[in-house]
Amino acid sequence: MLLYIHIPFCDSKCFYCAFNSYTDKFHLKNEYMKSLNKQLEYELENYVKPNGLTFETVFIGGGTPSTIKSEMYNEIFNTFKPYLQHNAEITTEANPNSANLEWLKGMKSLGVNRVSFGVQSFNDEKLKKLGRSHKSKSAKEAIKNASNVGFENGINCDIIYGVAGDDLDLIKSDLSTAFSLPITHLSAYSLTIEEGTKFFDNPKMKIDDEELSYEVFEFIEENGFKQYEISNFSKSKDYESTHNYGYWEHKEYLGVGSGAVGYWNNNRRYPTKVIEDYVDNPFDIELEEIDENDIKVEKILLGFRCSNGVQLDLFTNEELKKVNILVDEDKLEIKQNRLYNKNFLLADELALYIID
Ligand SMILES: C[S@@+](CC[C@H](N)C(=O)[O-])C[C@H]1O[C@@H](n2cnc3c(N)ncnc32)[C@H](O)[C@@H]1O
Ligand code: SF4
Repeated sequence: MLLYIHIPFCDSKCFYCAFNSYTDKFHLKNEYMKSLNKQLEYELENYVKPNGLTFETVFIGGGTPSTIKSEMYNEIFNTFKPYLQHNAEITTEANPNSANLEWLKGMKSLGVNRVSFGVQSFNDEKLKKLGRSHKSKSAKEAIKNASNVGFENGINCDIIYGVAGDDLDLIKSDLSTAFSLPITHLSAYSLTIEEGTKFFDNPKMKIDDEELSYEVFEFIEENGFKQYEISNFSKSKDYESTHNYGYWEHKEYLGVGSGAVGYWNNNRRYPTKVIEDYVDNPFDIELEEIDENDIKVEKILLGFRCSNGVQLDLFTNEELKKVNILVDEDKLEIKQNRLYNKNFLLADELALYIID
């Protein structure tokens, strides 16, 4: 099983971002961390412990986990530690401006072994356009600091491309800077325009160009990072994100925190996004039942977007006929009773063709 912990605080709101985070509720940090611990204890007692489950990965995401001092994580770590598998992957997201050396050391001493930096670009003009609060220089420093502290499961750098004003040269320059730093993993996201963000009122901020994605993928692979999902690239198999892989394999996960999402017992679970309500009552969780068909569709969509593939026995005979057509067209490949997609960008199209 996986554990996701959500930290809904950010120093500023980026113009593209729809994740649940607040820039003006820092006074709630202490109470929030207490409520987080209460929800975690409750779910451990009610699901994890009685079923003899353990965590293979933990992911602290946001928002911005580095807005919370490392000492303030002590209680939560003490709560989930008895349920950790040996060698569990423990990742924290971090922003370059708040993840200073002291914070990184503190997180490492708690047991964090992987850090994911939201860099987005090393070009100060582009960073400003995205509404980021850091500069290229601090991103480089933060990555070097993390490398010196030593996170054995690696360091990830998030980059966003396809922003108005981007051209292949600018993107390649961003990527080359990332590759010159001690990173082991790269997430390259094509900008999406999300409702409720500043960019939503200005959709021209996105460059819609599939060819650009292919060129970006090619450049990343030429630099020795292998693609294992639409947006994820790793220096070696050992540095792939086990946590993300867990989602793509449709594993169960606890999701604790305001705006987190959990999935266990055939239910998707949504703790309230309103931070004050969460602080008052972290047990107010909305449930959405997921039926067998939903699970099947999700497994196919997720499996086609990454190198995990899909188990063949998931398909009906009618669907298998269409699978065979796609295999003949060299779009899909069958190996040891699993079906693999050869082009992740076509994942949704191929999945819909088969299950429609
Ligand atoms: C949950 S965010 C948190 C990371 C961290 N707070 C930061 O921004 O430094 C994870 C990543 O999602 C990506 N992201 C968020 N919104 C996006 C969007 N609208 N389009 C593309 N990528 C996005 C960014 O690359 C970001 O680093
Ligand atoms: S991208 Fe990261 S820092 Fe920016 S608003 Fe979203 S969660 Fe916060």
